[in-house]
Amino acid sequence: MHIRVLGAGAGGGLPQWNCNCANCIAARAGRAGIPQRTQSSLAVSRDGENWVLLNASPDLRQQIQATPALHPRPEKGVRDSPIKAVVVTNGDVDHIMGLIHLREAQAFALYATARVHEVIGSNSVFNILAPGIVPRWTLPLGQPVLLNGAQEDLGLSVEAFPVPGKIALYLEDEKAGPGLGSQEGDTVALEIRDLESGKSFFYVPGCDHLDDHLRRRLTNAELVFFDGTLWHDAEMVRSHILFKTGHRMGHISMSGPDGSIAAFQALNVRRKIFVHINNTNPTLDERSRERAEAEAAGWEIGRDGMEVVL
Ligand code: MLT
Ligand code: MN
Ligand code: ZN
Repeated sequence: MHIRVLGAGAGGGLPQWNCNCANCIAARAGRAGIPQRTQSSLAVSRDGENWVLLNASPDLRQQIQATPALHPRPEKGVRDSPIKAVVVTNGDVDHIMGLIHLREAQAFALYATARVHEVIGSNSVFNILAPGIVPRWTLPLGQPVLLNGAQEDLGLSVEAFPVPGKIALYLEDEKAGPGLGSQEGDTVALEIRDLESGKSFFYVPGCDHLDDHLRRRLTNAELVFFDGTLWHDAEMVRSHILFKTGHRMGHISMSGPDGSIAAFQALNVRRKIFVHINNTNPTLDERSRERAEAEAAGWEIGRDGMEVVL
């Protein structure tokens, strides 16, 4: 199974269009040790020929351009794409906006939970993906299903299961209480399995904390891509960027006793890679103390173009 990080950044990417934080300034200037990152997406393929996108980011056009395996193949005719399916993990702008890039009457299958399909289905702009060409399949929760293209067998399965998280920002309802209207299926983790080798990995780009269920699921995993939005829960507040903590945004932070680095220590995960990394996160800078700390704890900081074979 081939896995490629198309974009390791969180919403906004690095640099973000309107941001003058230290990381954005350095990345915009092309300083060594802090490469730019596009927004949150992975691509996966069993055979290296047919690919599935896990989330479709606003940077998808650029990500396809940067990834020859995703280019149309000349021998396949005048219109072609190796992208056969897209699975989305929530309704956030950074995870669904790229669907619009996939117009032009190209067949692929779209997988999402019932909750996220409600969001996509209620926004008529997504009708540009005509249902006759782009079938929309609902992911059950906690049950693996075959992950196929509109026409082809891709040799993979996907299981979506709920993780602690939040409804998309633009759907938050203050009147609905502390959960802001969040329901099961608004944010899911994915386990993708190669049906031939039986190997699997987890993709969890948004997660508020590790509950017992998630801990059990991830224990002894071979590979996990995990929410690396923030280093510190108050990182954006302290830098006067946004008066919201990580938890208010539905994201666990890397550091501290309640952070992901501590939580994973007992899980015996063989390879751990942070993705969905916000531009304020100090681990993005290879020279930072925080980067050294995360790496010493066995974590890799995801970067665009990173490839993993499982
Ligand atoms: C998030 O990950 O919290 C969202 O992408 C935020 C947003 O929609 O800007
Ligand atoms: Mn996001
Ligand atoms: Zn920034």
